[in-house]
Amino acid sequence: MLKSSIDKATGFEKRFENIGTVVFENSVLASKAVAKEIADLIRVKQAQKQPCILGLATGSSPKGLYAELVRLHKEEGLSFKNVVSFNLDEYYPMEPDSVNSYVRFMKELLFNHVDILPENYNIPDGTLSKEEIADYCNAYESKIEALGGIDLQILGIGGNGHIGFNESGSLQNSKTRLVALDHITRVAASHDFSGLNNTPRTAITLGVKKIMEAKRVILMAWGERKSNIIQASVEGPVTNQVPASFLQEHNNATFVLDQAASSKLTRINTPWLVEKVTWTDKLIRKAVLGLAIDLKKPILMLTDADYIENGMSDLLADSGPAYDINIKIFNKLQNTITGWPGGKPNADDSKRPERAEPASKRVLIFSPHPDDDIISMGGTFKRLQEQGHEVHVGYQTSGNIAVADDEALRFASFVCDYNEKFGIDNKEAQSIFKKAKTFLKNKKTSEIDSSDVRYIKGLIRKGEARSTCHYVGVPDSQIHFMELPFYETGSIEKKPLGEIDIQITMDLIEKIKPHQIYAAGDLADPHGTHKVCLDAVFEAVKRLKPKKFMNDCWLWLYRGAWQEWSIDEIEMAVPMGPDQVLEKRKGIFKHQSQKDGVVFQGADSREFWQRAEDRNKETADIYHQLGLSHYAAMEAFVRWMY
Ligand code: F6R
Repeated sequence: MLKSSIDKATGFEKRFENIGTVVFENSVLASKAVAKEIADLIRVKQAQKQPCILGLATGSSPKGLYAELVRLHKEEGLSFKNVVSFNLDEYYPMEPDSVNSYVRFMKELLFNHVDILPENYNIPDGTLSKEEIADYCNAYESKIEALGGIDLQILGIGGNGHIGFNESGSLQNSKTRLVALDHITRVAASHDFSGLNNTPRTAITLGVKKIMEAKRVILMAWGERKSNIIQASVEGPVTNQVPASFLQEHNNATFVLDQAASSKLTRINTPWLVEKVTWTDKLIRKAVLGLAIDLKKPILMLTDADYIENGMSDLLADSGPAYDINIKIFNKLQNTITGWPGGKPNADDSKRPERAEPASKRVLIFSPHPDDDIISMGGTFKRLQEQGHEVHVGYQTSGNIAVADDEALRFASFVCDYNEKFGIDNKEAQSIFKKAKTFLKNKKTSEIDSSDVRYIKGLIRKGEARSTCHYVGVPDSQIHFMELPFYETGSIEKKPLGEIDIQITMDLIEKIKPHQIYAAGDLADPHGTHKVCLDAVFEAVKRLKPKKFMNDCWLWLYRGAWQEWSIDEIEMAVPMGPDQVLEKRKGIFKHQSQKDGVVFQGADSREFWQRAEDRNKETADIYHQLGLSHYAAMEAFVRWMY
């Protein structure tokens, strides 16, 4: 059975949950635990001289599991000779050797590295004609039945609650079939297909019925982006709008989660509703702010009755009346607001987020992509510069894959035309731009860019970043392009964080010896560039900690373009007036290649400046609703103690 060292929740604490859940510290430990259960099952079946029938999934969630199974095979002799596997799904139409086929995914991540017999793995065939599909699907199910059904089914979960490609609306007794993919699913997949237009509209999926018939089901989910759908599946009603909720009716299903994916479960999000809690300052703050937000009341208007009726009577008994608790939390929140992100010189800083001294600080802003600094903390960036601090920016990656081909072609053609008219001496430069132009004109869908094209795309983004810095007032000598090597694969899939990435990060910190570091704190994004960039910063500051200058170095985390800190987490809120919002917008506009329909739009059709403005306005509006001053916008930060 799956056990986690951090998850001690009892049945009582889990009484809101209708499916067994196990929470692990991170996805690596969780994947190892799932791999162990699979390995145990394979060995039991081996001892019984029986085949082990596995249902397998693709996507980002099972990658760590497959890596661990490969390790178990190579290092611990786990044999897959008795394994027969059935994959959940395949895009349709799809050639098996295409870069995005699930056949290729499974071979590259698992089958090619273990001793499973090629005739023993089954993946829906994306090459059939439409007329052949129905018979093929029936035969796929019959084959599973003839083997006695699936012993253990591995699942991921889609943002809409899909399992396999059984999208919202699928019936509980649905059969294996051709389905149309949901818009959300296609948007998620569009990263792999270089845009939504190239993303398949249909797929063949195992039906819900066969999944429900599996003797054991393990669904894995990582990261904050899955937290809402996990809560709905585990605690909400059983509904075909959330197909994963069908698993509430399975007698042996477990959801294996990392902490971020579990964060919206009642026992974790509002534990005081589930069990007796120790009311720490952090928990009181979370509960009181959550109460005020839910009831749409200013903090100072919360009454004893509000506390009692919302499961917080023991807090009232401990530290009440409500008025006293309210005042404490109100003051705390008030103290997070500062127009002096680098500290206010000559002021009493005992209740301010930042130190007054030294009055002029060296500041290092780490920006994962060339535009995160201005999108996510543009108001603060400008203010730090205007308030006389020495502001440096470390652009961690080139961001080259997010530049559209036509944009790069425009620049390449510009240089080629210029060369043709005036000629330039440098033959190498001439050839780079010529080769890039030819490549782009003949580029096939999903083809990885040549190094020349990547170079040009990187140049475009560098120019834009420089332009933002100049707009803010940062001189060239304080702009640092780090080009961390982990990013430079030319595709969405990045290399893991390497020693060299950490070393480059350490070198820059040592060179500047900053009093403040700002980094994009996307803690819960398991595959994104931001998380890897953040890990590089965390590791660098950890290693540099013994150095004397680090005693004076505070690390502030901002959030990327996709999420915001929740109000109870915020430790510094930098307010902006309407004019400052407009100034920030102009700074974001310097990133021309990221405007008007970007390569990685995601599910959100708003442009980056709109997302940033909406998000900053929302934070300011919540502060206002809670009874604090009303600003046009606010940028939020959390201090990271290392
Ligand atoms: C994959 C599959 C899908 C994924 C789901 C989550 O075979 O059937 O249901 O499991 O879309 O995908 P990731 O893990 O990429 O978030």
